[in-house]
Amino acid sequence: MQENMAAERLSPGDPNSFSRPDEVKVTHMDLELEINFDTKILSGHVVLSVEKVNAEANSLILDSRDLTVSMVQDFETKQLLKFELGSSSTTFGEKLEIHFSSSQTIKQKIVVHYTTSPKSTALQWLSPEQTLGKKHPFLFSQCQAIHCRSLVPCQDTPSNKVTYEAKISAPHDLTVLMSAIRQGEPVQVGDKKTHSFHQPVLIPSYLLAVVAGDLQSRQIGPRSHVWAEPAMLDKAAYEFAETEAQLSAAEDVCGPYVWGVYDLLVLPPSFPFGGMENPCLTFVTPTVIAGDRSLVDVVAHEIAHSWTGNLVTNSNFEHFWLNEGFTVFVERKIIGRLHGEAFRHFAAIGGKTYLADTIESMGASNPLTSLMPDLTGIDPDDSFSTVPYEKGQAFLWYLEDLVGGSGEFDPFLKSYIANFQYRSIKTDDFVEYIKHYFQKTPAAEKLEQVDWKTWFHSPGMPPTFVNYDDSLAKACKVLCQRWSDWNEQGCLEPMSMSSDDLKTLSPAQIQEFLAQLLMGPPLSCQAIEKMQQLYSLNGIQNAEIKFRWLRLCLKAQFKEVIPLAVEFATSQGRMKYCRPIFRDLYNWEVARPAALDAYEKVKDQWMYVCAYTVGKDLHVVQ
Ligand code: BES
Ligand code: ZN
Repeated sequence: MQENMAAERLSPGDPNSFSRPDEVKVTHMDLELEINFDTKILSGHVVLSVEKVNAEANSLILDSRDLTVSMVQDFETKQLLKFELGSSSTTFGEKLEIHFSSSQTIKQKIVVHYTTSPKSTALQWLSPEQTLGKKHPFLFSQCQAIHCRSLVPCQDTPSNKVTYEAKISAPHDLTVLMSAIRQGEPVQVGDKKTHSFHQPVLIPSYLLAVVAGDLQSRQIGPRSHVWAEPAMLDKAAYEFAETEAQLSAAEDVCGPYVWGVYDLLVLPPSFPFGGMENPCLTFVTPTVIAGDRSLVDVVAHEIAHSWTGNLVTNSNFEHFWLNEGFTVFVERKIIGRLHGEAFRHFAAIGGKTYLADTIESMGASNPLTSLMPDLTGIDPDDSFSTVPYEKGQAFLWYLEDLVGGSGEFDPFLKSYIANFQYRSIKTDDFVEYIKHYFQKTPAAEKLEQVDWKTWFHSPGMPPTFVNYDDSLAKACKVLCQRWSDWNEQGCLEPMSMSSDDLKTLSPAQIQEFLAQLLMGPPLSCQAIEKMQQLYSLNGIQNAEIKFRWLRLCLKAQFKEVIPLAVEFATSQGRMKYCRPIFRDLYNWEVARPAALDAYEKVKDQWMYVCAYTVGKDLHVVQ
């Protein structure tokens, strides 16, 4: 949400955080929390290990949002510490300032006793009816970008990193997992069990994660289990069988995997993202389970974050492309290693189509389409789009090409990661490092030609793309052209298309064929009917294909699709799908009432971030 007043940067290092790790920083968090499903509240305390960066500082500044802080103490002396909660900002929550006792020590520990609110924007509480098994409640968190502050009082800025330990107690029949290593067996206390975790690697606050539910696991690799509700476990284990191969390919690209365990967790359908790179435990939407492993690129992406994002971290979300652009670039390196270079190029072509579509709908002069947007006063949830992903990866591929190809760029990438791991960096750090790395090579001169300013600060499409190999995209383009031509002729000429057309295409190619068609003028309803008759796309289970097919029908103003589109957009809460479908429905007057009606019915079953962003798209949330 954008604040009304003239926006101010909340702190020098991060426009979206009140905290001042440049004055006093938190280095470790020790959490003890109880999960209460009846009240939808987490209660307990956190012990913060803090270290003065400025020896003169006499207070610790944290972020919080909708938290009730009952008491703050010095951990050693148990002395009560004064604290103040600032006025509430709808976007950024409240500043929490804790005054130190007179002690002059550089390091100290502070205990904050608190409870979360049932409205916590980081948490989703599901009733048993909302789960697959229907017997147990379910809780999950999603902290990125700035929701950790509604889960724990913390320095909610990726410029600071902490290690953590946690003891979480929950109803005895539920499994609790975190973005950390499990420690020992859960301990029964009354009708609850306490689960212990530790994360010994430094992480930014947005990587804190917790889940509780009826979960079981199956081993899928030497360092990997998949966790899911029992009814989903077989499907999940089948779908993600390539995980170890993806991990090894990623290590080949980036260096050793330092997090020990790489587990996957399949969430209920309301999980708002495709995947989330929570350390040791990637969260994934069930919409990637297509039954044929065709959508597991999402896992390659989250694996890639184990280096780009989780080891080398953007120091605030204006530099988000350092996380996501690099990660898409590495994701496609993994695809290249496993399936061949042609697949890497094909994925990049798909990304280019997606970027063009996004920039067209956001507006080519929209400042949020620049690689380094100004986020002063802006909620990162509002700035989220594919731009940092695809413009970022296009930029890195351009640089790879410029310095002479992967023979030169692959060693650079490894060296960049090794140099910046465990740290948080800004775009300038990257620019300085790449120039330094290539300084005594022929590439140095090439790098002089880069128009850094345009790449980083101009809105709209990137200044240039490399020539991607289109061998796998050709078939998509040809089929797209045939349909466009037939449509343009008013569907009068005899058609050459047949039900065999899709038989030779992979799911990814069908997806790209529809994506390209979607970029063109609307098809007529007659063409839509014919396509459905030949290809039976209404019955398709692959969510990426279904999504584009439904949008194509909506663009054609094909009335019969309205209930199908509503059903798809409300049966899950992945924003990548819900937002465009709801927007399409809204923008078509005939479908608008159905969209508004469906939104009212579903919004309380979605996570905050999805209800908020779709609500804004539908002009029912300010
Ligand atoms: N870290 C992101 C998800 C995210 C970004 C959550 C910003 C909150 C704020 C995750 O790695 C991601 O990019 N997921 C994509 C996967 C895709 C690019 C393969 C998604 O959810 O679609
Ligand atoms: Zn990502």
